[in-house]
Amino acid sequence: MAAQTIESVLHEQRLFQPAAAFVEHARIKKHELETFQQQAVQDHEKFWAGLAREQISWHKPFTQILDSRRAPHFRWFGDGLLNVSYNCLDRNLKDKAGKTAIIFEGEQGDVRRVTYAELHRDVCRFANALKAKGIKKGDRVVIYMPMAPEVVVAMQACARIGAIHSVVFGGFSAQSLKDRIEDAGAKMLITADGGTRGGKVIELKLAADQALAKGCSTIESVIVLKRSGQTIPMQSGRDVWWHDAVKNVSDQCEPVWVESEHPLFLLYTSGSTGKPKGIQHSSAGYLLGAIVTMQWVFDIHDDDIFWCTADVGWVTGHSYVAYGPLATGATMVMYEGAPTIPDGGRFWDICQRHGVTIFYTAPTAIRGLMKLGDDLPAKYDLSKLRLLGTVGEPINPEAWMWYHKHIGRERCPITDTWWQTETGAHLIAPIPGAVATKPGSCTLPLPGIAADVVDEEGNSITQPNQGGYLVIRKPWPFMLRGIWGDEQRYIDTYWKKFNNKYYVAGDTAHKDEDGYFWIMGRADDVLKVSGHRLGTMEIESALVAHPRVAEAAVVGKPDEIKGEAVFAYVVLKGARPTGGVDEALTKELRAWVTEQIGPIARPDDIRYADNLPKTRSGKIMRRLLRSIAAGEAITQDTSTLENEAILLQLQGKA
Ligand code: WT7
Repeated sequence: MAAQTIESVLHEQRLFQPAAAFVEHARIKKHELETFQQQAVQDHEKFWAGLAREQISWHKPFTQILDSRRAPHFRWFGDGLLNVSYNCLDRNLKDKAGKTAIIFEGEQGDVRRVTYAELHRDVCRFANALKAKGIKKGDRVVIYMPMAPEVVVAMQACARIGAIHSVVFGGFSAQSLKDRIEDAGAKMLITADGGTRGGKVIELKLAADQALAKGCSTIESVIVLKRSGQTIPMQSGRDVWWHDAVKNVSDQCEPVWVESEHPLFLLYTSGSTGKPKGIQHSSAGYLLGAIVTMQWVFDIHDDDIFWCTADVGWVTGHSYVAYGPLATGATMVMYEGAPTIPDGGRFWDICQRHGVTIFYTAPTAIRGLMKLGDDLPAKYDLSKLRLLGTVGEPINPEAWMWYHKHIGRERCPITDTWWQTETGAHLIAPIPGAVATKPGSCTLPLPGIAADVVDEEGNSITQPNQGGYLVIRKPWPFMLRGIWGDEQRYIDTYWKKFNNKYYVAGDTAHKDEDGYFWIMGRADDVLKVSGHRLGTMEIESALVAHPRVAEAAVVGKPDEIKGEAVFAYVVLKGARPTGGVDEALTKELRAWVTEQIGPIARPDDIRYADNLPKTRSGKIMRRLLRSIAAGEAITQDTSTLENEAILLQLQGKA
């Protein structure tokens, strides 16, 4: 992709100033933000060190700030000692022991409240159960669970003893679970009998058993939470019920003090190869990111009811469910199920019943609920809401305006937060009491975040509205520390393009006249389907693993609700189906991809062709395939194609 070819098409002019009522109570006002920005620019390291001293409870304070000797491997606060779970729980016990930490609501409507004292006790017990199973500092523990308070307990318990967790989203298949367990070399798996979503039972233990039957030789034990209540087989000597594991253990567990750089977790995400990468995060730097963004971007106050709708299987659920809210002593809502059960008013119903004040969700959810009509949210009292947020993909101005009008009732600022699994926490987002918003823009970088847009040569683009690569010029404390077991890929993916000078996010963006950032999309072969990140290569490898598939190319197709939909072009071994139609095979291939990766990767469209359009050097012409999938006129040069008939087949016209 040449940067010159990236043109911005959005020209949004509306500007929304933060309402006076919001500004009055906001933690950060305009002049404070300006001071912050100045301090950060004057001395980047001092700025972050000051925050780290102020916001983290250290067991042993650090004296070293940033260590760049092995750049692009950066270390922050290297000689400090801390415990993340201590920072999330113990330090809240003095003033907030009886405060509700989690308001959990099951899809069936069951509600459970957990106080800080109770959560602390549950985490200590479970940490002792992990220790009893031989889990020690540095061991990897894979967590494959439904949304329930126990998943937070499991993550916090790992953090308490210095074990490294790796949460695998419950929607991933047995095969994906196996790949992640093996890559991480995990010693333990924590799962549940089943979860509920959209009225359906998710067979977690069944998938876990299938994964373990295929390999995963490093797994020594499995802890199983009883949630759905269905009957499942338990393998004696390996599997133990959660409630049995915590039966005879103490509810006191001294935290294990770890070095700042000790890995807190791995989280697998898709890239532009067939293999997901285990993004590794640190303890201190990551915690700092979760805390400061809760304060700056979510303006968290003691009496807020905070609700981030993300599943803990994604990074959003790490930073803004499992860690950030607890580390700031907040009360959060956690919901198990789908937004449409029993109807599309469920989110608004939860907001009303639990008095949610800060609501954070994905554009795809907003678009889906918007489509159901304005009268659904109108039925609910949303007057407690004071701040809204979005994450995961660019939000189209139409959905932004609907969110603003029908959910925020034109009263709540919207914070459009740009970040990634790799960045640990928000990097570009409006601080709601200080920055005016524009629908569709994530606005300005946070203090201490040196974001920029550069051209193909790595030069800063100074001309407004000219697209380029989004980069971060200076290391920040909550950045990823590497890709588990693949140092070269870390450098190749994030640093190599501009000679290790700055972090390359993989997104294209432009800045407008006011310096506001507008994210345009991915610069690599990564799709954003309902906000979830999927590698086209991953889906292609899954397809070609099917005995009848010779070749496959996957692209994104614009979709009104999902943002992008998965569109697959397939070349079969043997003859192409007559007229390009074979419904039975299409069904089989879709089920196949679901089995290989998970339902989120299931192709929406499959089109059969005799071969794929390639350049002379053999590269698949993805841009052409994208235009065809979008139903656009073909403007590319197709003179190198073997025959014109292929075009008709690809277009589904022959
Ligand atoms: C990619 C990262 C960060 C948590 C959820 C996704 C896209 C994310 C925005 C936004 C436009 C966004 C980018 C980014 N993205 N937030 N506010 N506006 N695009 O995490 O799965 O690691 O995906 O999501 O393309 O690179 P992720």
